[in-house]
Order: sequence, then C-alpha cells, then structure tokens
Amino acid sequence: MSQPLLSVRGLYKAFGKVVTARDLDIDFHPGQLTSIIGPNGAGKSTLINVLTGALPADQGRILFQGRDITGLPVHQRVQMGLCRSFQVVNVFPGLSVFHNVQIPVLALAGRGRRVLGSLAREQEARRETERILEMVGLADKASQPASALSHGDQRLLEVGIALAARPRLLFLDEPTAGMNPVERREILAGIQRLSRQGVTTFVIVEHDMDIVFSLSDRVIVLHRGDIICDGEPSAVQCDPQVRECYLGEEVL
Ligand SMILES: Nc1ncnc2c1ncn2[C@@H]1O[C@H](COP(=O)(O)OP(=O)(O)OP(=O)(O)O)[C@@H](O)[C@H]1O
Ligand SMILES: [Mg+2]
Repeated sequence: MSQPLLSVRGLYKAFGKVVTARDLDIDFHPGQLTSIIGPNGAGKSTLINVLTGALPADQGRILFQGRDITGLPVHQRVQMGLCRSFQVVNVFPGLSVFHNVQIPVLALAGRGRRVLGSLAREQEARRETERILEMVGLADKASQPASALSHGDQRLLEVGIALAARPRLLFLDEPTAGMNPVERREILAGIQRLSRQGVTTFVIVEHDMDIVFSLSDRVIVLHRGDIICDGEPSAVQCDPQVRECYLGEEVL
C-alpha cells in the first residue's frame, strides 16, 4: 500500500456529551475513492470539519503527507492541497459557470506564479478553467449563469471550483444531497471517473448506499463517533454490525 496522504491518529472530538470522533485512527491513500457513511449525526461532517481545519480537534494528530497539520488554519491546509466542498450548494449564482471556476484559478495563479505577466496569466487561467470545465462535463454550459444550472450541474460546478485549488485530497460532503437517484449516479460516476484518471484523491460522504457500494474503493462506516467497519465495499456491505446500525432503514 502506498504512503498515506492523510493520517489521523487518536482523533477525539466532542460537543459536550456528544462524541463525534472517539480515538479515530485512519489513513487515506492516494488514488483510493473512499466513502464515509453512517446514520444522521454519526459525525461525518464534523470529521471533515476537523480534518480540513474548520473545527479544532480535542485530541489527536493529523498528518498530511507526513507533516503534522493538527494546528494549521484552513487556508494553509488548502495551500498544501487539502480541500473540501460543503453539504449545501456553494456557488456564485449570478456569475457564469466559467467565472465561477476562473476566479479561484486566477487566485491560485496570482499566488504562485507572479513571474508571468498579467496577459500570460490570464491566458493560462483561461486554459486551466476550460480544462476543468471539460473534466467536470460543463464545458458546453460555460457561459450560462450558475443559477441556470440544474442542481446536479451546480454540484459538478462545485467540484470544478474545488479542483481549481489543485487539491491532492478533496473531501466532498454529500455531493448528491437533494438529487434524484439518476442525477446521483451521474455525479458519482463522474467523481469515480475523475478518481480513475488520477485528477485527485476523493473522500466523499454519501447516503445512497447502492451508489456507495458500487462506486467506492473503500467504505468507512462511522457510528456515534466510532468506526464500526472499514474495508472494501463487498465486505462492509455484509458486515453484521453495519447492518445492525442501519436496521430499519431501506439502505442495505
Ligand atoms: N457546532 C456544533 N455544536 C454542537 N453540536 C454539534 C455541532 N456540529 C455538530 N454537532 C453535533 O454532532 C453530531 C454529529 O454531527 P455531524 O453534523 O458531524 O453528523 P453527520 O454524520 O454529518 O450527520 P448528517 O448525515 O445528518 O449530515 C450531531 O449530534 C450534531 O448535532
Ligand atoms: Mg453531515
């Protein structure tokens, strides 16, 4: 197995008496499409918040490519390539699809490549924006306002915006929230394709079990702050504890 991109050791997080991460140890590996699942309130979003720096850990260490990032603020983690999307849609509705992606592309270009003149930088940003829109399948909608996109396409646009930061590891919190099953499968098939192409390493939180088990390389099941199962989809799907925790739900 390759060196982990992100390692979590002894991670503990609680809100009062509600424990959302109880001494978690996890390694996320490059190229592996990992899904984190678990019932509502299991601690999935909180885990993403802690790993990406939006919330502090109570205890434990977080290592990104071997470097201890436990105390680093969000923007420094983003600069290192640790990025995320949110559970609610987060695009600029009044701006075109193109500009939604171009703005973060330009922001990165401005930060990293000051040697280029402004025209060269703009041309490069244009090409990069087009490349990203191509990757997420929105090239033909580039001139439309983001508000005109379907919910599914807005989610794809968010993935595009996130890719503009050139993440090495990208957390997507419920990228298919609010979509119908057909749209969900489309989005996640797109994410799987990007993962297979090596565009970045994805970790997703997703509730649709059919999709999770058919598209993930690895599934981590979180339940009340504990990892109750972690492995290949086929093994996780049959795990008695997982079935128990989803008892009464139609998912398995
Ligand atoms: N900022 C906060 N302050 C207090 N409690 C919180 C806070 N954020 C989350 N919680 C609580 O922590 C628990 C885990 O919440 P979290 O949002 O991580 O769950 P989740 O697994 O993402 O759930 P869902 O599937 O509904 O999105 C819940 O009981 C929630 O009420
Ligand atoms: Mg959540």
